Amino acid sequence: MDTVIQQPHKLRGTITPPGDKSISHRSAIFNALARGTSHISNYGTGADVQSTLKVLRALGSRIKKTDGLINIVGGEFKEPSNLLYTGNSGTTTRLMAGVLSGQKFLSIMSGDKSIRMRPMARIVDPLREMGASIEGRQGGRLCPLVFKQSNLHGIEYDMPIPSAQVKSALLLAALYADGPTIIHQPALSRDHTELMFRAMGINVSEHGLSLNIEPGQLNAIDVNVPADISSAAYWVVAAICHSNAKITIQNVGINPTRTGILDALEMMGASINIENKRLEGGELVGDIIAESSELNSAVIEGDLIPRLIDEIPILSLAACFAKGTTIIRDAEELRIKESDRIFAMQSELSRLGALVQETKDGLIITGGKLLKGSNHQTYSDHRIAMTMGIAGLLASGQTYVQDADAASISYPTFWEDLESLKVA
Ligand code: S3P
Repeated sequence: MDTVIQQPHKLRGTITPPGDKSISHRSAIFNALARGTSHISNYGTGADVQSTLKVLRALGSRIKKTDGLINIVGGEFKEPSNLLYTGNSGTTTRLMAGVLSGQKFLSIMSGDKSIRMRPMARIVDPLREMGASIEGRQGGRLCPLVFKQSNLHGIEYDMPIPSAQVKSALLLAALYADGPTIIHQPALSRDHTELMFRAMGINVSEHGLSLNIEPGQLNAIDVNVPADISSAAYWVVAAICHSNAKITIQNVGINPTRTGILDALEMMGASINIENKRLEGGELVGDIIAESSELNSAVIEGDLIPRLIDEIPILSLAACFAKGTTIIRDAEELRIKESDRIFAMQSELSRLGALVQETKDGLIITGGKLLKGSNHQTYSDHRIAMTMGIAGLLASGQTYVQDADAASISYPTFWEDLESLKVA
């Protein structure tokens, strides 16, 4: 599907984005492994989190959807009769690699073209150190990956990159180890696994950036998934960059390991308020109210990067509306996401008329140039598709987005929600 967007006079309204993708994946995988039965409400609606359910069912999990709830009967997995297909989902692939390493059977896992190009050595190397028997293309650097029965032991591991997917794969494998596992992180990445593991009875302790986990059996818990802050970020940027806008985004997960985007935009002068802050199942939740703002440039780098890694495409669009030159660096991970997001944003922002330069690990963007819609690509990447949708609300003329349904990987109702905010 291609779509065309025209800038509205005003943006007003209230949006509730789908359930958080990271928390949805974890709630399903952990409860499928757990002792007991669980109910998950507001499970994400995107294709990625459906890929996780398909993989779990292929491993014998009993998962039913009724009245918007996901019901899971936890228990042991059994040998899958076919390849486990993870679609476009990096989180499914990497977290399940940790689980499959600990199983007493053979399994083969792969995904779509993008997944088959994404680096897997980051999980395969430390999992092999734990004793996992993993084969794969290019010596295990690429999918398909093959997991054979093995006995795992605890290790002490210094993570070279601050990745929540790597950390979670190791924490999952650590459940099957014969002793404790210690993980040292270079910077803090999202901690949903640690929070949910604790709520499910696993002994995970934190000492600064180090984690210590004991092997154990998860106990099922009900989870009410908050709305995804990574999806909320599109509406926040739409509101602050449009000259006549006020948007409320409800029930959003505001775990501090995920709110780097709000911190960065506030540092740039954005008017963002959070109301009704509350704790739900160990996760902080609130309603975000964002409105038209005057923005200044900023330097986005270092420990802030893992706290806003998925929001850099939309942040780079916001930088086009800021006074001065914004520098985004230390973000080379963006080159190996669903697409090369540094290249993609440099290309598409330039096509809008922005002053943008690509560096090896980020972007340099000078704000203030008037943006004009053009014909845009999504690189089959949901976050680029949604960023270009918001660009269409902010640029003059008509903004054409090819392959717009790429958004459905995380946010199937994105385009309807976008239309609902327009006041002609
Ligand atoms: C995720 C971690 C991040 C993020 C991805 C979801 C997770 O990836 O980009 O969209 O749920 O653990 P990395 O861990 O590779 O940075």
